Amino acid sequence: MRWRTRLTELLDCKYPIIEGGLSGIGTWDFAAAVSNTGAVGCLTAATSRTPDKLREDIQKLRKATNNPFIVNISIGGCPQIDEMFEACFQEDVPAIETAGYRPDEYIERIKKSNITWIHKGATVDFCKHAEKLGVDAVVLVGLEGYGFKNIKQLPTLTSIAWAAPQLRVPLIAGGGIGAMSLS
Ligand SMILES: Cc1cc2nc3c(=O)[nH]c(=O)nc-3n(C[C@H](O)[C@H](O)[C@H](O)COP(=O)(O)O)c2cc1C
Repeated sequence: MRWRTRLTELLDCKYPIIEGGLSGIGTWDFAAAVSNTGAVGCLTAATSRTPDKLREDIQKLRKATNNPFIVNISIGGCPQIDEMFEACFQEDVPAIETAGYRPDEYIERIKKSNITWIHKGATVDFCKHAEKLGVDAVVLVGLEGYGFKNIKQLPTLTSIAWAAPQLRVPLIAGGGIGAMSLS
């Protein structure tokens, strides 16, 4: 069965489920395995470590799957961030997921590349901010999630129920439940 949600339309994937960025684990072969199921695999740039290796990993990933994938670039956690973005632009990846606090300084380049842009944040306000910047979809991670911690963060299901009526772009829930598109 092919699900039809705004996320499956946006990413052209079978299931509205995406792999989260995973430092140290989010390799090209893990991402290919996820994409080959019909969900969306995620190559974590920080796991590739250098822009040249990221380029190489994107090429390997493309050979290992015909399905869409995402490259995660975590702001503040990813080394050589400008060059990592450049590698994604040059390889024309299907989608980039930024994560962390303000992605503002990178947005002009992402939007110019025409690559689908997803942003992951820990609060509704961060998602609303990304929406104002022109994001294509947001991942909102609640308290149950690993890593993303913020003083204003709510438990996952409360957070998603609070966010849904406030956002127009597709909303992907994260935090203790895997990540699943709700619309
Ligand atoms: C080991 C590990 C490493 C992670 N590394 C990253 C990362 O580099 N960048 C990122 O955006 N999120 C990272 N995350 C967060 C996940 O992508 C995800 O947002 C979080 O685990 C919530 O997802 P869940 O619904 O599966 O719990 C990491 C999570 C784990 C468990």
